[in-house]
Formats: sequence, structure tokens, C-alpha cells
Amino acid sequence: MNAITDEKMLAEEAPLDEIDVSRPELFHHDTWRPWFARLRRDAPVHYLAESPHGPFWSVTSHEHIKAVDTNHEVFSSEAGGIVIAKPEETLVEEQTQGESFITMDPPRHGPQRQTVAPSVSPKNLKEFEPLIRERAADILDNLPVGETFNWVQEVSVELTGRMLATLFDFPYEERHRLIHWSDITTAVPQVTGDDAIDMNKRYQELMECAGAFYQLWHERAAQAPKFDLISMLAHGEDTKTMHEDPANFLGTLLLLIVGGNDTTRNSISGGVIALNEQPDEYQKLRENPALIPNMVAEFVRWQTPVIHMRRTAVQDIELGGQQIREGDKVVMWYLSGNRDELVFPDADRIMIDRPNARAHVAFGFGIHRCMGNRLAEMQLRVLWEEIMKRFDRVELVGDVERLPNNFIRGIKDVPVRLHARR
Ligand code: HEM
Repeated sequence: MNAITDEKMLAEEAPLDEIDVSRPELFHHDTWRPWFARLRRDAPVHYLAESPHGPFWSVTSHEHIKAVDTNHEVFSSEAGGIVIAKPEETLVEEQTQGESFITMDPPRHGPQRQTVAPSVSPKNLKEFEPLIRERAADILDNLPVGETFNWVQEVSVELTGRMLATLFDFPYEERHRLIHWSDITTAVPQVTGDDAIDMNKRYQELMECAGAFYQLWHERAAQAPKFDLISMLAHGEDTKTMHEDPANFLGTLLLLIVGGNDTTRNSISGGVIALNEQPDEYQKLRENPALIPNMVAEFVRWQTPVIHMRRTAVQDIELGGQQIREGDKVVMWYLSGNRDELVFPDADRIMIDRPNARAHVAFGFGIHRCMGNRLAEMQLRVLWEEIMKRFDRVELVGDVERLPNNFIRGIKDVPVRLHARR
């Protein structure tokens, strides 16, 4: 019996009320599929009474995820945060990571989001596009054709790092610091299952991050308004005093760093894995590069870089025939919603011309719907347009290594070899 059927049997035979889909190893070893399939079939709104994160509801169907995400009056982001870990577990987290509009409900949420949103408006993105293309082309032109290298490090990390530096107008030669801060933000034991993380060192580093941004903030506040994110915040009517509230200051910056980094990075890596798993789809792409925009949506569905978002019910409500009580923790498993066969036939397969690829839940819905979704799609589109100009194939030549993280679907190693276009 191979590992896949083994895991399928375990998932089928486990007592339903003991299934815990938050275990980081499911994502580390990429064995989550049969567990979510079981919940979608037998209990799309499922209660787990005991877990390392305390009791929680798992919402796994496309329909119910949408219902929770669009009902912010009942399902609060502010009452208990947006990750599965208990508030008491994240105490260190809150001290170092602060708060941002992703963990706010109305009326605080709207004005803060609206201040930064113009930085990723269609008009601003049009202006960014040539620069992104130039930076993507520069990366691709310097790759070692014919040699084995890690696609994650050389392309995914590098491109999103360059983009992030552009968005913040952060000193370009120091852009690797942004990548590092993004990595350590989500690397906490409750999310990764790794107790060996040095939380003191992490704290020091996040304080360095705050320090670097305070300096930039003061510089930008003293200058005329520009279109980078820091300048927008420093001059925005609702945010210009944010630096006086350290928790909100660091929280907002980390939201923008992580939001724009890990997610797009893993979609870039996931796309290469997907096309290698299904060479027929790769061939379809070679024959018709006009499919790239739809393929990008399908990559985001298939990869689902943000595995879950958590809410807290602030009143009793019935969902999918289950009674959720005020104070209950409710977890929307986007990764599962994007494998819902009722919406996406043959959902585990990548299909670059899937007609409803855009119906995915990977960007969420409602007032917190991903602010950077168009930017992410543009980056991915431009990158794949430039890849197709240069390479016949990005060949996967070894094992993919993933991270043990139940929040961000992280990919660490994608060994590849490039084949130039003939
Ligand atoms: C493929 C890439 C990306 C994915 C899959 C993704 C996913 C998500 C998800 C699931 C949410 C929460 C939605 C909800 O609760 O309903 C979110 C929120 C957010 N994302 Fe993204 N994201 C991506 C790229 C980006 C980029 C490039 C930025 C850069 C600006 C960004 C900035 C944000 C912000 C600021 C929020 C909070 C919005 C709010 O609370 O109002 N994201 N994203």
C-alpha cells in the first residue's frame, strides 16, 4: 500500500468527532486531501471539542465558507483574531506583532483599509507593471540554464522581495530584510508545531523591523505625499498618527509585508509544481499562452496560499444544520473550499482553462477580501508571460519540500532545471 491510500484509509476510519485538520504535519507532508474530503462529505460544519488550540468549528465547503466570510456582523475578526491559535497562546504574538485592519471589525476596519487601498488600485498597478516586468525579466535572464537550482529561492522569493521593496519604496539593496521579517512573522510554534523557535530572537528582529519603518515613516511624513505605502499611511487622514500607537503601527506594516510576500511567493512555486504534475496542461499552455490570465486564477485556487482564516461568533447562529454559540471559534478552511467538487469538478487536478477558476475562495470574500488580489494576479501573469518567452520547460527534477504550517501553505524547495526555448 502506498502512502496516499494509507492516509486515505486513516481519514476514512478516524472517528468523525476526533478529526483535527489543524495538525501542521498534514501540510508539511501534503497529506491533507483525504481529511478535508471526509469532512466535506460527512460534516461540512464540524466541531472538534479538544485540540491543542482548544475547541473549534471547521467550515470546509465552498458554500459555508462564503456564508461565514460575508457575515462579519456575526463572525468577528476582532473578537479573537484571524488565526486558529488561542489568544492566550499568542500573547507574545500580540506584544510583538500588534494589530492591523485585518483583525478589526467595522467601524475601525474601513477607514484604515481605504487609506492604503489606492496603492494597489488598477491605475497604480498599470504604472507598476513595466517595472515588475523588467524585474521579472532580469531574474529570469540570470538563471543558470541546464543546472539544477531551487526555484523558490531564485525566482519566487526574489521576485516577491523586489516587488515588496517597490511597494514600500524600501531601500532596494536591503530588500532581503523584508523577506526575513515576513518569514519570521508567521513562524510561531502554534502555527508551525516547532517549539524550537527562538522567540526572543524573533522579538528582537521584529523590533528592528519596527525601527527601520519608524525611520522611513519620519522621512516620508516630512516629504510631499508619494504613492508608496508608507507615504500613503503617513499622510492619510485616518492613519497619520498610527506611529504613536506601536501595536497598530507594527501590525499594519507586518500585514502588508506578509500579505504581499508569502502568498504570491507560494503561488509562483505552486504553479511550477502543478504544471509538472500535469504535462498535458503544460502542453496546452505552450500551444496557447493566451490562457495565462485564467491559468493564474487556477494556480491560486490549486495552491491556496492562505490555508485558513479564523473568526469568532459574537452571537448564536445556525450554520449547515449545526448550532454555533456566541464565543465559539470558527475556522474557514479555504484550502478545502477550493477542492469542493460541487463547485470544481476534478478539483485536485489543475486545469488551466477551467471555466470557473475565478470562483475560488483563496482571496476570501466580504469586507476583508484580499486587498492585494489584483497585484498578486498581475505579478503572476507577468512572470508567466516572461517565462514562456524564454523557456520551453521548467522541469521539476527532485522532491518538493514544504513547511509545517497550518496558516500559510509554504513551499521551501522546488528543485528545477530549465530548458531554453527551441
Ligand atoms: C496569491 C496571493 C494572495 C493570496 C492568496 C491572499 C489571500 C488573502 C486572504 C485569504 C485574505 C483574507 C480574506 C478574508 O478574510 O476574507 C487576505 C487579506 C489581505 N491581503 Fe492578501 N493575498 C494575496 C496577496 C496579497 C498581496 C500581494 C497583498 C499586498 C498588498 C495583500 C494584502 C492583503 C491585505 C492588506 C489584506 C487584509 C484585507 C482586509 O482585512 O481588509 N495580499 N489576503
